[in-house]
Amino acid sequence: MANPLANWHTDHVNFARLLDLLEEQLAAFHRAESPDYELMGDILYYLRVYSDRFHHPPEDVAYARLVIRDPAIRLIVNRLLQEHRVIATAGEELVNRLNEASGDALVPRAALEAATATYLVYYRHHLSTEEREVMPRAVQVLTEEDWAAVAAAVPVSPDPLFGDIVLERFVALRRKIAS
Ligand SMILES: [Fe+2]
Ligand SMILES: [Fe+2]
Repeated sequence: MANPLANWHTDHVNFARLLDLLEEQLAAFHRAESPDYELMGDILYYLRVYSDRFHHPPEDVAYARLVIRDPAIRLIVNRLLQEHRVIATAGEELVNRLNEASGDALVPRAALEAATATYLVYYRHHLSTEEREVMPRAVQVLTEEDWAAVAAAVPVSPDPLFGDIVLERFVALRRKIAS
């Protein structure tokens, strides 16, 4: 069975593009302009429905097996597993701040700005650790049996933004990315 690492790498590249778009919105804050709340909301929605639910869970299974094959990597892996939870929580926090900001005139802009920055830092750090330290090791030590267990544990879901069939909600975001 083919391992999913190439797909995970593609996801990481896609996530990084979305984080760059989020950062552009953060820059709008600094110029005292109004960020595109709708765009930010769509990015967060995607990262929460796709990444949090279908990208991180199979990684959790693979990483647990990686620690068994290579106990020396335990510390790094434990941090990554924790980051999956932190990213989900930070994403929820950011969505709450976004909803307040887009719905209310008295916007706690500093809180939204901080939540966005926090999310960016965690996510980017996470992606880079996976790419640099963990995926190269996984390809070396995980077995066919490990990858079969990963595949059996979590169903593969089509990507609703970067995949062939784009979810209605993501049509505008997809166009923005393509332009
Ligand atoms: Fe991850
Ligand atoms: Fe990942």
